[in-house]
Amino acid sequence: MVEDCRLIEFPQKGDDRGHLVIVEGNQDIPFDIKRVFYIYGSDKDVIRGRHANYHSEFVLINVAGTSKVKVDDGKNRKIFNLDRPHIGIYLPKLVWKDMYDFSENSVLLCLASEHYDAKEYIRDYDTYLEIMSKSRGEK
Ligand code: TYD
Repeated sequence: MVEDCRLIEFPQKGDDRGHLVIVEGNQDIPFDIKRVFYIYGSDKDVIRGRHANYHSEFVLINVAGTSKVKVDDGKNRKIFNLDRPHIGIYLPKLVWKDMYDFSENSVLLCLASEHYDAKEYIRDYDTYLEIMSKSRGEK
């Protein structure tokens, strides 16, 4: 869960022409990439995400600018800074995530292991806590 969330440094092949960063599915990240989307133009005080996913895993990369990602599994919380184009955060399934503190030039690239399916999103935090405590055998 939170302890499975981690920063990944991607291979860089920059030269005197500029930078090039490589992210290969199932090689640099632990899943095949089925979906790509990106978030930009979010104000500094906006909180995005605010959900968990039953199945999808994600890697988030600030390919420009900076943001923060807060992860939460109902027990533990951790905050990650995304501030370099060759660093991503891996988010396993069933982790609650908030993305926030976007810089003005932030472009947050999101790689996902699954196609979009609204039904696999948990968007109510109390429901999420119940699901997690059940899965821990607490209920
Ligand atoms: P949302 O999940 O709120 O974005 P985020 O959590 O990343 O801030 O998505 C915003 C809208 O876009 C919502 O109506 C669902 C839709 N959407 C898709 O249709 N496909 C997608 O792959 C994603 C991520 C969102």
